[in-house]
Amino acid sequence: MSDKNSVVVHPARNVLGSLRVPGDKSISHRYAMLAALADGRSRFQNFSTGADCACTLACMQALGAKVECDEQGSVVIDGTGPQAHAPSGRLDCGNSGSTMRMLSGIVAGQPFTSEMIGDESLSRRPMKRIIEPLTRMGAKIDAKGDCAPLRITGTKLHGIEYRPPVASAQVKTCLLFAGLLAEGRTTVEEPARTRDHGELALRAFGAKVDRVPHGVAIQGGQALHPLEAVVPGDISSAAFFLCAAAIFPESNLVIDGVLLNPTRSALLDVLAAMGSKISMVRVEEQHGELVGTIALVPGTGKHVEIAGALTALLIDELPVLAAIAPFTAGGLEVRDAGELRVKESDRLSAVTENLLAMGAQIEQTADGWRIPGGQKLHGAEIASFGDHRIAMAFAVAALRAEGDSLIRNPECVAISYPGFFEDLERLVER
Ligand code: S3P
Repeated sequence: MSDKNSVVVHPARNVLGSLRVPGDKSISHRYAMLAALADGRSRFQNFSTGADCACTLACMQALGAKVECDEQGSVVIDGTGPQAHAPSGRLDCGNSGSTMRMLSGIVAGQPFTSEMIGDESLSRRPMKRIIEPLTRMGAKIDAKGDCAPLRITGTKLHGIEYRPPVASAQVKTCLLFAGLLAEGRTTVEEPARTRDHGELALRAFGAKVDRVPHGVAIQGGQALHPLEAVVPGDISSAAFFLCAAAIFPESNLVIDGVLLNPTRSALLDVLAAMGSKISMVRVEEQHGELVGTIALVPGTGKHVEIAGALTALLIDELPVLAAIAPFTAGGLEVRDAGELRVKESDRLSAVTENLLAMGAQIEQTADGWRIPGGQKLHGAEIASFGDHRIAMAFAVAALRAEGDSLIRNPECVAISYPGFFEDLERLVER
């Protein structure tokens, strides 16, 4: 029996039907932050319904933006312009690393002090990656070790040239936002290409962002205009359904209005290599972002290796790819994914532990896994570790197991996808 603390997932026969997923989390965060810095009223349809983006909206409100939901369910934001208002309390980023890291770039450029806090998981995650460059730009930041809570004393920042030691879109975006408020030019050179929503969103709000070899640059002092946009469906949420459909020979799944930005869609290439036939129709560009409809029918494929630059592009999809890997024909090897250890949970260990509980053969390495294909797994008690992507990844694996599985603490799916279990139930056939 499912209750508040657990959900039972029964085995399924296939995944059939069509679906729209909530608005993309990465884009929703960025649109909300930039709308708050714009002069005038922005409006976003299909804004992420996840708790992470609700944290961003609450923070932007605390910084002086007016945030409302209209009758159609769109998020409406009246910005303050580049100068935010000093918040009366602490900025609570909840579970959201994106909120804390990207927003720190904005508050670092304000003439007041902000305190940013997060939940237990976020308070363990590394913040040195933004503290170091923002300090070089002129901000004063006190932290607990290298972690939250952060106390950021903002100032008139100055532009820098920076190459982050880890590939991180959050860090890149943080520095572009800080660079927008800074004097001079800020350049971020990436060790590996990451999602480019920060650049695209800045351009959508009217800023000029330049491509430079291996990176991006922004000139400070540019004004933003407001934006009306429909947020594309989150491909990292769609990933759970695409992966579920891929492991049942009789599946047929269509996902409408989903983000197809090439820095986010590598999952489709991996699923194709694993044997699925994927088509994309009605593809169009909206404010620089590609959006379209994906149709997937499964098939038998080959062994897949994910390493290097590809790992960075698939960072949020790796848990679900690993969770379905035992059911694929050729299995999966992932390398260079040490960053998974510092996500909402240690995702390398969380995946390994849960796959072992289901009776899988898996080898965990320092920065990845080796998972043979062609395995049969049994239902098990699954720990979510309070991590939305772990809970959803194993709800998917549980569909192909023999016997029921029990997912502990499943409520964390609300971080990115509050209706996840309902949508999954609607699409699976038993
Ligand atoms: C995100 C970037 C990634 C990703 C996260 C969202 C973003 O984090 O894991 O879910 O919106 O920029 P990193 O920048 O830490 O790799």
